Amino acid sequence: MKKKIKKIGIITRDCAGINAAIRAVVRASYRAGFKTTGIIRGYEGLIENNTIELNPRSVSGIINRGGTILKTARAKQFRYRKGQKQAVKTLESNNIDALVVIGGNGSLTGASILSSQYSVPVVGIPATIDNDINGVAMSIGADTSLNVALGALDKIRDTATSLERIFVVEVMGRDCGYIALRAGLAGGCEDVILPEKKLDIKEISKEISEGNIKGKKSWIVVVAEGKAKAADIAKKITKLTGLETREVVLGHIQRGGRPTAYDRILAARYGYHAIELIEKGQTGRCVTLRDDKLSAIPLSKAIKKKDIEVNSYYKLIKILT
Ligand code: F6P
Repeated sequence: MKKKIKKIGIITRDCAGINAAIRAVVRASYRAGFKTTGIIRGYEGLIENNTIELNPRSVSGIINRGGTILKTARAKQFRYRKGQKQAVKTLESNNIDALVVIGGNGSLTGASILSSQYSVPVVGIPATIDNDINGVAMSIGADTSLNVALGALDKIRDTATSLERIFVVEVMGRDCGYIALRAGLAGGCEDVILPEKKLDIKEISKEISEGNIKGKKSWIVVVAEGKAKAADIAKKITKLTGLETREVVLGHIQRGGRPTAYDRILAARYGYHAIELIEKGQTGRCVTLRDDKLSAIPLSKAIKKKDIEVNSYYKLIKILT
């Protein structure tokens, strides 16, 4: 017989919108009659028994705050069985009957291990600026991050246009070019360099040189950090074109900040649905949307590599340049 759920643990990574998701999980749990415990510092806290009791009041005033009130850390020990067993012990000693894991690929891989190898009832909520969760069109945090990158590109464009200069802007995205591709299109950038696409620096430089002769003097190339470093690309463009090229690295400003309305709404819906799934005993899953309706996929599917649509977006970037 399945154990009756009384208390839910919440563990997170960090990005904008995660606090809104914690709030949703805590308050939806309260409505469902479940208590909630936050795990401090991610899987490290799960191993080290670092927890805090949460209630609807303790998540007041966090809907608009970036980051995670629960703090987070990478936990090497969780890669090994010893750490995993210790994590399960923490769940048992705190009477946590089910876990909600809010995060990206690494966090959901941990969730999948706890679910498949230790029979812990787990539901995952996708939250990562990389938007690289397989089977999930939108992860919490991706929209905020994209808009931060876009805001920076708009500012850089002012200078690029005024000084007739070339810029290479490095955005986040380790294995996935989501931010680079979308920010490139939304920001009217001339080219994007992505993990999903072959890099041809000679071709990019040729286009810049030809454009320069025709009178197109400013140029913004967006590069996803996982594919190349902006400084290296800028150096090569200068060498091949003879034109002054500057690099900008946006870095972690893309991960924090006030979540957009889109991310807060997504967090509310995902958080609520995670608790619905736990109530129904439908765990081992990751929440998602299908045709704008709440839905779920197996965690084992969510942690597989996601292929993003590149060609149609890239084609538009080039046509509209
Ligand atoms: O996965 C999200 C992400 O922000 C990536 O885009 C980036 O490569 C990575 O995390 C950076 O991680 P850290 O802050 O641990 O260096």
